[in-house]
Amino acid sequence: MPTAISPSVSPNISVDLSVTSLVKRFERFTAVDDVSFEVEQGKFFSILGPSGCGKTTLLRMIAGFEAPDSGVIAIRGRDMAGIAPNRRPVNLIFQHLALFPMMSVAENVAFGLKRRGMAGGEIARRVRDVLERVGLPGYGGKMPAQLSGGQKQRVAIARCLVLEPAVLLLDEPLGALDLKLREQMKVELKTLQAEVGTTFVYITHDQSEALVMSDHVAVMNAGRFEQVDTPRNLYRRPASAFVAGFVGETNVWTGTLEDVTGDAGLVRTDEGAVFRARVAAGLARGARVDMFIRPEAVLIDPDGASCVAPENGDDAGDAPLPPRGACTNRAQVQVQAILFDGAASRLLAHPEGSRREITVALPQNRLYDHIKPGDRISVGWDDRAGICFAAGSGR
Ligand SMILES: Nc1ncnc2c1ncn2[C@@H]1O[C@H](COP(=O)(O)OP(=O)(O)OP(=O)(O)O)[C@@H](O)[C@H]1O
Ligand SMILES: [Mg+2]
Repeated sequence: MPTAISPSVSPNISVDLSVTSLVKRFERFTAVDDVSFEVEQGKFFSILGPSGCGKTTLLRMIAGFEAPDSGVIAIRGRDMAGIAPNRRPVNLIFQHLALFPMMSVAENVAFGLKRRGMAGGEIARRVRDVLERVGLPGYGGKMPAQLSGGQKQRVAIARCLVLEPAVLLLDEPLGALDLKLREQMKVELKTLQAEVGTTFVYITHDQSEALVMSDHVAVMNAGRFEQVDTPRNLYRRPASAFVAGFVGETNVWTGTLEDVTGDAGLVRTDEGAVFRARVAAGLARGARVDMFIRPEAVLIDPDGASCVAPENGDDAGDAPLPPRGACTNRAQVQVQAILFDGAASRLLAHPEGSRREITVALPQNRLYDHIKPGDRISVGWDDRAGICFAAGSGR
């Protein structure tokens, strides 16, 4: 009889962080409200939400600086209840990172290892290794004041990575940097994380940071997770009005559903225009809705151009996009302004007879050089490009 092969891998072995039904109240105010999620080993997981939604409170509970009122936090399968911060296999990097100014880069990085009582030779070897991994070989002898903002950031990360945490928690670590450096660092951080393979939990209120860097993003609002998904799905298939409005730029029209078949609806806007759009589950004819349309979905001169839904993404595991649909939505608009910004150029326009402003992306801006403020142009978008949620539910 052949020997049975017992499964050697339990289904959860690759989960580094698991949070279940976590709640934190400050007196009668609920800062974190029944939050659950899992982060797999080696993933870049972001928590994205507006100021005050509970991001830092959540991270502080994971790090052990704040006790939850209820719920479970497990790291690599081990329940963290009652375990002190310094005994948890996590490190937290704050928005205003604090390197010790009187210590060299190497001494800063070595600090945690020294406190653990590691031998000097081993410390020197690890410090050298980690500085190489964060792209700062040979910087050990410099003082923090001799470094750029981005380099300081990398030293702060090295100081945590050298302790080999299971999970690195980052609380808006780019918040203190200027815009240009932030743009550069978000690419660097992503590359760095992929190279070192440490699980990152990153919090930010900057949607571009979250979308660019993350494998998965949780969108948080008023203490709750509204959607946990890939950046692509958050952008293309928002699960709520809040997500549709918070992630990426969007146009919003308010109106009434005149007809619904499956998830396809007909909306009469308050300005009197009629458009086709997708409709969130649970909305029936007569419902008041907000219809969201991305600026890049709005095509100029749709009858002259080809008007098709975007191609399916190539990421395995992403939800499929709706099939290519018809493009029957049309609006005549008057151009108000052209906001030239290279590939990110935008056109602002008013639909005729309306004071509402709509934003249209100008990806092929050179093609549209002839368009001037005051011009009347035709725009249109795919019947499935817009999505409707209950009016006001995203506020
Ligand atoms: N120790 C505390 N006592 C009372 N209320 C608190 C305490 N800490 C946080 N809060 C409240 O909990 C809410 C969430 O705060 P938190 O710091 O988690 O927000 P955040 O999402 O990190 O915001 P930001 O993006 O501004 O950093 C806020 O309304 C805040 O005022
Ligand atoms: Mg915060």
